Amino acid sequence: MNSDPPSKEPLVHDDSKEAPARRHFLKGAVGISAGISLLLAGTIDKIFLFFFGPRLSQKQETEVMQERLERLKSTIGIRQLELERGQSDYILVAPLSELDKTTGKYFVDYQMRPAMAFLGKDGLPTLISAKCTHLGCTVGNQCNAQGKILCPCHVSYFDVTTGQPDPGAPAKTPLPHLGWVIKDKSGKVVASRLTSGQTTGDTKAGALEGASVYIAKKEA
Ligand code: FES
Repeated sequence: MNSDPPSKEPLVHDDSKEAPARRHFLKGAVGISAGISLLLAGTIDKIFLFFFGPRLSQKQETEVMQERLERLKSTIGIRQLELERGQSDYILVAPLSELDKTTGKYFVDYQMRPAMAFLGKDGLPTLISAKCTHLGCTVGNQCNAQGKILCPCHVSYFDVTTGQPDPGAPAKTPLPHLGWVIKDKSGKVVASRLTSGQTTGDTKAGALEGASVYIAKKEA
């Protein structure tokens, strides 16, 4: 009968078995890293292009900057107009002497819509919306021989005096007229017209000398 105690494995750590495994692991890691690097090198410029667009020449960059600057100026101009309209009870359209019977003077109304000022047949201002009642294009400011202005978008003619579109035009409703106020040189209101067309005040030529035309925030 064998009474020897069971043999035990030596407790000594054997590095020689782990070293090849570690080497394999390191090789694998290096290989994967190299693969990822190559992949990124091939796609990084595409990612850059996707997010930032193609690289621009100096001339193109200057053009883009100028375009942005113009947009910024335009936005500032619009904000200034809005601010002015919010703060002022009257907005200057033009000196009365600058109004013309056939060429409208554009301005922006209190609702930030385009409008035009003509000199009417009565020698007083005729203010009319320049926002086409068809699809909202800005109507041209030149009157033709029949006293009509043209919206060029889909060819609608409007009579300046009545605002009515030509029969058969794409626009079916008239351009509305706007009220106005005339102030003399000292800034005193001497005459006004409501949107309804009712005119009050002193409209004699003498009283209107050196006067200017305004739109008012509220009709009196
Ligand atoms: S938008 Fe003026 S005719 Fe169409």
